Amino acid sequence: MTEKSASTSMGNNMSEKAPQTGSTSFKRGTNVVAVASGKGGVGKTWFSITLANALSNMGKKVLLFDGDLGLANVDVQLGLMPKRDLNDVIRGRLGLDKVIQTYEEGNFDIVAGRSGQASLSALPSQRLALLRDQLMDVASEYDVVVADLGAGVDRTVRMLSATASQTLLITTDEPTSLTDAYAFIKLGNAAGMSKNVNIVVNMASSVREAEKTYKTLLKACENFLKISPPLAGMIRVDKKVKETIRSQTPILIRSPNADAALDVEKIAKKVWNDVQNASRSKAQG
Ligand SMILES: Nc1ncnc2c1ncn2[C@@H]1O[C@H](COP(=O)(O)OP(=O)(O)O)[C@@H](O)[C@H]1O
Ligand SMILES: [Mg+2]
Repeated sequence: MTEKSASTSMGNNMSEKAPQTGSTSFKRGTNVVAVASGKGGVGKTWFSITLANALSNMGKKVLLFDGDLGLANVDVQLGLMPKRDLNDVIRGRLGLDKVIQTYEEGNFDIVAGRSGQASLSALPSQRLALLRDQLMDVASEYDVVVADLGAGVDRTVRMLSATASQTLLITTDEPTSLTDAYAFIKLGNAAGMSKNVNIVVNMASSVREAEKTYKTLLKACENFLKISPPLAGMIRVDKKVKETIRSQTPILIRSPNADAALDVEKIAKKVWNDVQNASRSKAQG
């Protein structure tokens, strides 16, 4: 991947949107894990649900936060009809803690988003800051918060990603997905928020292919940005994913032995280790 090809698909129009707040002013939680991608449709929402489910199966208290207000679909993938959602919080009608619901089947909690609402990115920064503070407060009640973010690097994504102790950046081996992932890292790096970006290669046809995809991205990051985002893991392409989404049942409940389910469980173990390390180093520093 060349720098030019890496920058074209997202870089141009997004680089102008410099963050209004420096990342140092963001209060950093140690147990918020953001799930992001440059491009949509790479499996962020499916992965976020499965990661939340896997962490819950490990005995952790988990909150899944649907931070993609424009294309929110955690509730759709799980067949939920939430009575309250993030929109109530954003409109100032309810506190974030009041819109949490328990997803009994998966034994984890959810803050639902709402599809088709004005994007979170259109929020005035004050409201966004308020939401972030509420999220930090709520996060202290959990072992882990998994935040499914919108695609791209808009203000909300940057804020949530900077709040998180780590961001899992999902890419596939598609060139557009890769270049958009690179652009995410590049712009995030410029905004000082990419220190803790970990790559997840999704829909990989094999471990070898996933490694190739990761190395392509890594090389571009090392050559042009002088950073080396680590690999969090890979997830194989698996027809059980579509099947379980269609049945609105998490893959770890319906097909727990599916390749893709096992791959996410591996990533969940690593994520939990990283969360523990983050909280340890925060306690020391
Ligand atoms: N590992 C996988 N194997 C096969 N299909 C997948 C996999 N991950 C995601 N998908 C497919 O990608 C589609 C988009 O997933 P979604 O979670 O909605 O993406 P995003 O939130 O990034 O837009 C899903 O409907 C699913 O069919
Ligand atoms: Mg999504």
